Amino acid sequence: MKKLKIMSIFGTRPEAIKMAPVVKTIENDEDMTSIVCVTAQHREMLDQVLELFHIKPDYDLNIMKAGQTLTQITARALEGLEEVIKESKPDMILVHGDTTTTLAGSLAAFYHQVKIGHVEAGLRSDNKYSPYPEEMNRTLTGRLADVHFCPTIGNKENLLKEGICEENIMITGNTVIDALLKVVKEDYMFEDERLNKIDYKNKKVILLTSHRRENLGKPMENIFTAMKEIVEKNADVELIFPVHLNPKVRDLAYGILDGMDRVHLIEPLDYAPFANLIAKAYLILTDSGGIQEEAPSLGKPVLVLRTETERPEAVKAGTVKMAGIEKENIVKLTDELLNDCEKYKEMTNAINPYGDGKTSDKILKIIKNYF
Ligand code: UD1
Ligand code: UDP
Repeated sequence: MKKLKIMSIFGTRPEAIKMAPVVKTIENDEDMTSIVCVTAQHREMLDQVLELFHIKPDYDLNIMKAGQTLTQITARALEGLEEVIKESKPDMILVHGDTTTTLAGSLAAFYHQVKIGHVEAGLRSDNKYSPYPEEMNRTLTGRLADVHFCPTIGNKENLLKEGICEENIMITGNTVIDALLKVVKEDYMFEDERLNKIDYKNKKVILLTSHRRENLGKPMENIFTAMKEIVEKNADVELIFPVHLNPKVRDLAYGILDGMDRVHLIEPLDYAPFANLIAKAYLILTDSGGIQEEAPSLGKPVLVLRTETERPEAVKAGTVKMAGIEKENIVKLTDELLNDCEKYKEMTNAINPYGDGKTSDKILKIIKNYF
């Protein structure tokens, strides 16, 4: 029998983390040929993940430019993908999530009439501009996709409301848990000695990340000023902030937080140390999507630095709270979790609405059945 050619297209750090388990599963399947095409919408932050999971892309479009606009990412990715798809003629293209690479990948597949599988389908905030432009990237990809791999039942219901045919919607869990379970270890030691020296038992370590486009500017300034106030007020707090490589984030972060005692501004961490840092931290503050899925499964409370989320499952379960983007509210909620044991405990239940770590296997079986 002819082997199925499955092409995975991705370009940013989170897509790479969440597609790595799928790529590895395809590589190990004797009925399939894996083709990996990275747009490299991210460069260093993508390469960190490729190295960790030993993935050597067959195609690398290398499109990243400093300060790139959405139009530039889309145009460069579409143009590069045309040649790649013509040459490799895949049976199915897999895209992941909600980035501009995701939308460009599915549009390119559609233009060449290649079947599209959408991994992490059906999440919705129902606000066109938040997350921006991710909400529309994911929604439009949903229109183009042939098979939808939904993490949860709620995601499936979102797609049904939009008229997507039920037989093409599969509930699989989220591949992020497959990736997380591979790297988190109880006795993990960091390569960076600064991280080993921090006293995770007696200090309250807050792990912060922030990068969302809609938070750039004033909201991010509010977030960083709130963090400054929290560290000044609470002598037992250590703040660790791996700063995203976006220069707009870096300018603000270093402008407000650099040089403070008990504040560690560090470079983006490789996935293994980052995931283990979640496991060791006291509390997570973030505007990231993926971290809202990872932290609950490690029993870590998360305050989300956004006004809405397309991931309501962990909010319903109580381990994730929306903190918004106003300084006063962020300070208030963080102070509560630092100083009120009961409130903190209520949020530390390890829950896992996003799967059992076997999502990639499920996705593969579904693809085989599809053909
Ligand atoms: C992108 C995704 C977002 C995702 C995020 C994950 C879009 C529109 N946005 O946002 O959904 O949550 O990735 O982190 O698809 N940079 C580097 N090196 C890197 C990566 C980024 O220097 O390895 C800098 C570059 O100057 C780049 C800028 O960061 O122009 C922004 O990158 P971009 O991919 O446009 O946006 P993100 O905010 O990273
Ligand atoms: N992450 C990482 N190193 C870091 C910060 C985050 O490996 O320094 C991981 C994190 O564990 C999660 C993913 O990157 O799996 C989330 O990426 P990001 O927040 O950039 O994007 P989003 O999930 O918001 O799209």
